[in-house]
Formats: sequence, C-alpha cells, structure tokens
Amino acid sequence: MSEKILNPLDKKLSGEIKIPGDKSISHRSVILGSLARGITKVTNFLDGEDCLRTVNAFRDMGVTIQKDGTNLVIESKGVTGLTKPTKQLDFGNSGTTTRLMLGILAGLPFSTTIYGDASLSKRPMNRVVNPLRQMGANIDGDDNGNLLPLSVSGSKLRGINYTLPVKSAQVKSAILLAGLLAEDETSVTEEIPTRNHTENMLQAFGADITSDGYTTTITGKHELKATDVYVPGDISSAAFFLVAGAIVPDSKLTLKNVGLNKSRTGIIDVLQLMGADLVIQNEKTIGGENIGDIQISFGPLKGITIEGEIIPRLIDEIPVIALLATQADGTTIIKDAEELRVKETDRITAVIDVLTTFGASVTPTEDGMIIEGKTTLTGGNAASYDDHRIAMMAAVASLITKDEVIIDDISCISISYPGFFKDLKSLT
Ligand code: S3P
Repeated sequence: MSEKILNPLDKKLSGEIKIPGDKSISHRSVILGSLARGITKVTNFLDGEDCLRTVNAFRDMGVTIQKDGTNLVIESKGVTGLTKPTKQLDFGNSGTTTRLMLGILAGLPFSTTIYGDASLSKRPMNRVVNPLRQMGANIDGDDNGNLLPLSVSGSKLRGINYTLPVKSAQVKSAILLAGLLAEDETSVTEEIPTRNHTENMLQAFGADITSDGYTTTITGKHELKATDVYVPGDISSAAFFLVAGAIVPDSKLTLKNVGLNKSRTGIIDVLQLMGADLVIQNEKTIGGENIGDIQISFGPLKGITIEGEIIPRLIDEIPVIALLATQADGTTIIKDAEELRVKETDRITAVIDVLTTFGASVTPTEDGMIIEGKTTLTGGNAASYDDHRIAMMAAVASLITKDEVIIDDISCISISYPGFFKDLKSLT
C-alpha cells in the first residue's frame, strides 16, 4: 500500500506538459508489431504496467522486443514464428491485454493459460469468448469461460459476421485480430462507434480491412508488413489536467501532443458544452491518428446531460468528468454508462464514494449518476479502489478541497500514468 497525503493547493496551475503515450495505441503497436514479420519501431510508447504486460506476453512467445525508455524495437518472424510460451501468461490488471490477446491466442497453434490480478479475475470475458467460440475457438475457464484464469487451445478459426451486444472496442478488436488469423472474411458491426485504433493501425500495417465507421470487415490470412508507429499522447491521461485547469481558479495550462482521434474526444466536447475556455492548436495527423496541443483555462462551468453516442468517446474519463461536474452550476446527468460497472472496479460506486466523502452531491443510477453543483469540496480519506483513474481523480480533487486529501493507495497510478505526480508538480 502506498498512501498519499495531498495538501490543498493555494495557487493556480500554469505551464505546459507533454502527455505520455496513449495506452490503447501502445498495446496495439506491440500486438501488430509482433504479428508482422520484420522490424517495427515504436516511438512514445506508454511505459505503464498494463502495456508492459502486452510486451512480456509477446516476449514469452519468442518475439524480440528491445525497450529504451519510451522507444521500442520489435523484431518478429511474423505470426508463424510465434512460439508456445514457456509459462502461464500473467496479464496483471490489464483488460485490454487480456481481451485482445484472447483474439490472437485463439488462432495460434498451441495452448496457453492466462491469468490476472484480483480485479481482472472478476471482469467478464464472455463478451469476447462467445464470439471467438463462434469462430471455432477452444477456451475454457470458470463460469463457462467467463472468468480468468482461462486456458486457450489454439485452433483453426473461421470468419463470422458479428454485431456487438456491448459498446466495447476491446471486443471489436479481439474479433478483428482473430479475423486476421481466420479463414475467409470477418465483419464486426457496432451500433455506436467505439475507438477505432485497431482498424487504423491494421490499415497502416497493410491488412485487408475496410470500415464505414459501423461495420468493419477484415480478410484473414493476410500477412502484415512491419511499420513504424508514433504513439500520440493519451487523451484519457490529459483529461485529468484538462479538468484540473478548468476547476483550479486562475489556471491556464497547455497539454502538448494529445491524441485527438474523434472516437476519443468526448471529454473535449463535454468541456466545451459546459462552457470551458479550451483551445486546440498545432493539429496534425500521424499514422492515421490526429494529434494536437490543448490549452485550457479556468472559468465558469454549467451542468449538462451526457448520454448516448458520446459515452464510448469518453468512457474512461467519466470519473474525472464527475469531479468536473461538482464545480459546474446546476445539474449534470450521466446516462447510458452501464459499462462503468465492469471496469477495473465498479466506477459508479467508486466515484460516488470518493466524491460524497469530499462533500459533493452525487447520486448513483443504474447506468450513471446525477451530480448537483456547484459544491465546495471538503477533502478527507479517499479509497482508490486500486483503480488508477479513481486515484488520479481524487488527486485532482485535492487541488480544490478545503482540507487535506489522503488517498489510501496510489501505486495503481503506474498502470497508465507513472509520471502523474511529477507532471502535476511541474504545473504548480
Ligand atoms: C480500451 C477500450 C475501452 C476502455 C479501455 C481501453 C481499448 O474498454 O475502457 O480502457 O484499448 O480498446 P471497453 O472495450 O471495455 O469499453
């Protein structure tokens, strides 16, 4: 346990920081770089625990991955060069590693056992296992293959047409990656678009893939070409500083190098709808991903309703958006976010607990929450629930509380943002 005591900040935040690499894109760079024959160089890789789980999984399957800080050099013999791991694969806390790797392991000619930490062991895997079984996968585990540990006996996969019953990029990606190894074509249809980094990167690596934003089709058995990847800054990490800049009086911050893929920018839309002073500068596109700098300044905010299509575009930002809403005048309603119940923890319960401890007026609903603002936050003891995004939300809240905030355990922050407190300090 690593407790952190945070004293209220009595000054504004100012300056600029470079946001570390995107977690989703970092995972995918290792996966596609390992499936492609040749050398893939990755720049600005996220050096967080979750992404290192994906690196170690492929090292265990015979891929050479050299890491120098945030640069990777991946040298692979391609899909047919992958070898049976010598031990069970430990995916730690990483849902993305688990679900995407299930799609790949299902189509490789050997057996593997995968497991994870206490949080991951409670998360539902049937959302991935069911469609993979339709493709011919052999996956076994407790609760009919819903819970880790799972054993996967690789088999010949066949293409399917699948409509996603859940709004999940991880499920979509698992099926597309299995589709890459399968006979024939695989199509995935989603009613509401989720992040499309897998599709973008598969295209960059030369896969035979087409997408109209709702249905994506991939042709199997198509060899990938090694391709260098630049990982943009993670907007989900930038979100903590966007909210900090918007709620700490007189602040003005610039966040450099942030990924601005439309499937991820719901937090920007929310800040603008609430009336925040936000400017995007230096926009460019690298490897199919938009990138830019975001300037955010403190100002008055108003409550809004957040529901429907925007939810997958900001799903990981909801904890810190709830904090933002405590500082907006009026009511903010968050709906259609039932997926929060099956994240690293039940994030509806965790957010309500932390924010009510701090004196906010927040009510849970089945699929979201209702926040009444604007409230003065008091501070107090916050449980991180061993969830990186809850711990960082509590740390941002401490910037505006009246009294100190004590977070029970901040070690989980290294899952996605190991330099979080260093970056925060540089702005104070
Ligand atoms: C991710 C997809 C989302 C997100 C997670 C990363 C990805 O999960 O919450 O942090 O990289 O595909 P779901 O697919 O479960 O919505």
